[in-house]
Amino acid sequence: MSDTTPAVDIGAAEQAIDLPEIGDEAQYNALMRTIRNRVTVRKFDNTYEVPERHYDLILEAARHAPSGANAQPWQFIVVRDQDIKDQITDYFVAEQRFRAKAKMKFPTPDYRGLATAPGFVVVCSDMRWVNAFPVFNDGSEQDEMYRANAERILLQSVAAATMSAHLAAAALGYNVWWVTAIGQEDAQDAMRPLLGIPDEISVLDILLFGPPDAKPYKRFRKPLEEIAHMDRYDMTHFMSDDALKEWINKRRHRVMYKDASRVD
Ligand SMILES: Cc1cc2nc3c(=O)[nH]c(=O)nc-3n(C[C@H](O)[C@H](O)[C@H](O)COP(=O)(O)O)c2cc1C
Repeated sequence: MSDTTPAVDIGAAEQAIDLPEIGDEAQYNALMRTIRNRVTVRKFDNTYEVPERHYDLILEAARHAPSGANAQPWQFIVVRDQDIKDQITDYFVAEQRFRAKAKMKFPTPDYRGLATAPGFVVVCSDMRWVNAFPVFNDGSEQDEMYRANAERILLQSVAAATMSAHLAAAALGYNVWWVTAIGQEDAQDAMRPLLGIPDEISVLDILLFGPPDAKPYKRFRKPLEEIAHMDRYDMTHFMSDDALKEWINKRRHRVMYKDASRVD
């Protein structure tokens, strides 16, 4: 028989919800201040030391993120050892050079900044969690379709936790940097032994935070009208293949950095 015992004390759980009145904009405004000011920098003041408590505050925010099936399929490795930070950085710098040589045309940033981050958190997941989501597990075509979505559910869940952590870091006054370039399998193989990560565990991203090395800047955002649809998909927002290609070729590098000549 399945165990239907709730994992929480229902009475205590209900009491713990403390939302403001609907429409109270004071908390919204406080949240928006954090959201607007969560800004990426790619080089930090490396003389700063993160108080231990700040790691707890940031990961506590991640812990409360929603997740598919409430699986909470995330693990966070706080890296304080400068030698390990340096070794991870070396890998990324090599990746940056590889991309330049391979002419991928992606405006790859200067990954040497990784080693300067006072706050360094490696975000991991166990991809076996896809089995906690709706899948058939029978190798059928239908199963493939469901598994693809299950993987998206898992990635969205970890992204939700990562975002909560980023916002918590911003709420504490830090600049942040979200790095996913470590997702390729060979990059993961390089990182696992450095951090004692078992093969079953995937490294999905790194959260870097700290005071900036130079004045941060706010990046371009699409206006609301360009992304909001009412009742049905507004085809004036639909991009043709050519328009998308044009955006990638002509616009991408301009929205990623302050200006085209200043890749940080
Ligand atoms: C899912 C995701 C993946 C990202 N991956 C990288 C990355 O691998 N390297 C990097 O330098 N920045 C990465 N970024 C940072 C984005 O480039 C940055 O958030 C974006 O340019 C907007 O700038 P802002 O964070 O200052 O608003 C990533 C951000 C997100 C949300």
